[in-house]
Amino acid sequence: MWKDENLKRFLETGYEEAPVVLPPESMQAPIFSIRDGCLALKIMIEAKSIQWWINGRRRQEMNIPLHILDGGDETAMNHFIDEVTRLNDGEEMMFSGHNCHAAIPELQLRCKPFLHQLYGESGVCSNGVNLMMFGGKYTETPAGVHTDPCDIFLIPLIGGKRLLTWEWQLLDGNEGTEVPVKIPAKSLTINWREEQHKAEVYCCNAGDILYFPVGYWHINDYQTAKNTFSFGINVFKNSDFARTIGAIQRKMRQLPIADKIASMSAKCDESGEVLELDPTYAQYLALIEEAIRINFLIRSSSAGFVTGIKLDTTVMAFSLNCPVRVRPYSRIFLVNCEDGRDTLISNGMVAKLNLSADAKIIISTLIETGKCDPTFFAQSGADPCLENVMNWLLQTGSVIQDSEIENAYV
Ligand SMILES: [Fe+2]
Repeated sequence: MWKDENLKRFLETGYEEAPVVLPPESMQAPIFSIRDGCLALKIMIEAKSIQWWINGRRRQEMNIPLHILDGGDETAMNHFIDEVTRLNDGEEMMFSGHNCHAAIPELQLRCKPFLHQLYGESGVCSNGVNLMMFGGKYTETPAGVHTDPCDIFLIPLIGGKRLLTWEWQLLDGNEGTEVPVKIPAKSLTINWREEQHKAEVYCCNAGDILYFPVGYWHINDYQTAKNTFSFGINVFKNSDFARTIGAIQRKMRQLPIADKIASMSAKCDESGEVLELDPTYAQYLALIEEAIRINFLIRSSSAGFVTGIKLDTTVMAFSLNCPVRVRPYSRIFLVNCEDGRDTLISNGMVAKLNLSADAKIIISTLIETGKCDPTFFAQSGADPCLENVMNWLLQTGSVIQDSEIENAYV
């Protein structure tokens, strides 16, 4: 989670413009530990969702002694990297994994406070977040100089980072002229060392966070092969939506109500005299406002993760006899819709419901106070509607019940 004054400084000075190294004192606590890295790596190797690069070539799978990672510390991670390198005759080795948050829900929770603050302060609308991991023993990024279609917050845990970056225009001519937010991820085939003199070099260590904006050409160049491990929070911005809505909001705020109607929905003559008002104007306005609200709520509740906690109906069942609590950093929203149904948003998942009156009171209390105890449930008796909606909330991971509360990640 950011310290407020540092988030403010970051937004004012570097965000969306240039890479920034955020030192450890920018955050209230580290977002990830090496234990997270060992656990995530083990789970994702077992799930065959890690990509390997050996001596610059892609490899799908390897037989690797995963028990080494059980140590969960820097020694274990280094031992693991050394062992994989040894199994590959000392060749340079890099591994990467996408969507770590989908494999390990706790990692998603760890990013949430950081992203909630960022979105809340910057007004960014997220199209999605991809939590990645990178590691191995290598000198430079095997994919070469490339851009990614997202803002990236790199969080080194072992070996730091030494990143060479070029503003997108500096290597222009190799790939044609394009606007940074529009370019997809791509790699250059140039000899980047000839362009080194134009690069900015950013170095950071464990505890720092290295931010660089979408569209920046970059490559890791450690200058000598070394053991590294890091996470990367990749934020895909919904730039068009954010810009359009932002412009409408600013415009609307500037105008008095009568002018809003006249300027946005009226047919006028050349002198600006209103000839005809559009009766559907209010409906359009309501739709825009709803879009802003829903988009913001989903963004807030899921922190932008689109592949989040999977629903698993076999794991949990709501009990009327146990207290329920909202999970740390999770937020639940209940929106009244004009179609008469209620929209419930939890961890980025949306349910349209016809809530009973009792269920609605209990859900509203849970949202307001963050908890509900069994005496409260008893007042409503056995309510199938309450049971269904509570089960759904449990499965989305936004609430916890009973013994889980003791062991919940905080
Ligand atoms: Fe990259």
